[in-house]
Amino acid sequence: MTSWIANWPAHGGRRAALLARFGLPSDYPLIDFSANLNPLGPPAWLSDWLTGAADRLAVYPNPDDDAPAQAIAAQQGLTPEQVLVTNGGAEAIYLAAALHAGGRALVVEPTFSEYRLACAHYGLSVESLALRGEAFELDVDAAERAMEGAVESAVERTEERTEERTEERTEERTGEGARAPASVLFLCRPNNPTGTLLPFETIERLLARGFETGTTVVVDEAFIDFSDEGALTPLLASAPNLVLLRSLTKLYDLPGLRLGYLLASPSLVRRARDLQMPWSVNALALGLVAPLLADADYLSRTRTWLADVRPGMPEAVRALGYAVPATQANFMLLDCGDAAEAEALFAFLLRRGLLSRHTHNFPGLDGRWLRLALRDSADNAVLLEALAAWRRA
Ligand SMILES: Cc1ncc(COP(=O)(O)O)c(C=O)c1O
Repeated sequence: MTSWIANWPAHGGRRAALLARFGLPSDYPLIDFSANLNPLGPPAWLSDWLTGAADRLAVYPNPDDDAPAQAIAAQQGLTPEQVLVTNGGAEAIYLAAALHAGGRALVVEPTFSEYRLACAHYGLSVESLALRGEAFELDVDAAERAMEGAVESAVERTEERTEERTEERTEERTGEGARAPASVLFLCRPNNPTGTLLPFETIERLLARGFETGTTVVVDEAFIDFSDEGALTPLLASAPNLVLLRSLTKLYDLPGLRLGYLLASPSLVRRARDLQMPWSVNALALGLVAPLLADADYLSRTRTWLADVRPGMPEAVRALGYAVPATQANFMLLDCGDAAEAEALFAFLLRRGLLSRHTHNFPGLDGRWLRLALRDSADNAVLLEALAAWRRA
């Protein structure tokens, strides 16, 4: 398994690496279904804004400027003290792990690989909770027991990867006696890569148990703006152990800008701020928070696009005979039966100019599935035609 993962990039959007892996030229035209970005592209006003803001690069970002946090707080119905602007959702994940350095983390798999990597970075031990069945359901009772520190008779697995993300260590432990309660539980809602979304009531239940066990519940809502369900923001009023992580890079198609934020109680936000590197968020990203959030037209066009492609696109793929779990995100999983078939389909799509996302580094998926972003109708039609051709072949 190690060598497989070593040969596959750890994230989507890695065109060059995958073209090289399959011996295709670097300028091979590709439609990218591997990164889960808004297909509308960045807002049209952005390039003029960036040109006009170029002089901001001549000074350090002002650490006392709370206008970005105020803009987020106003949109979310919170106070600026509950907001920390971060260098992408990724920095928010690493800060959430740093808050619990050396502790015991629970990660629900399959999920975004950075929770585990962030925990390894800050010396947390990590225990997996496996989502169950074709619908990828969380066993909430098992999650509660794991928060308490109860030992499951089932084998558990811990993994550590190096910075190069190539080494994996699997350690099996059974019945070692009582453990400390978990310091932190990482959840992703909707979950990457399954697209499934934990109900509000489940989160409330986990928060209540976490309050008793001293466990912080970190919910990554990087894709929540693509979902039909509401965000968990209202729960911050009653749950001091809740941390929400957001990303602005998916929604506004700006992964190169690096912009996200963390929401929590004022005291947790203060602690996270103390752990953040100085000038972590650049001046352009900071300056863009308010205008991005104010662009109501962009949001409404995004909702119109979403209504166009979901649930229609997953249904169309299912109609071709593929198993696709219901998704509340801007991507879907496609069951290929086994890893060899998934790699064959991956290569077939790539040669037809369609880049999908392998699932080798998602424990529990182990390469058997492909993840595909929902794109605009024209791109989706090309994908459907290719999937139908693969089926025929
Ligand atoms: C679930 C999840 N959270 C956070 C991130 C990181 O987002 P950002 O680009 O804002 O750092 C990603 C990126 O793929 C993601 O899938």
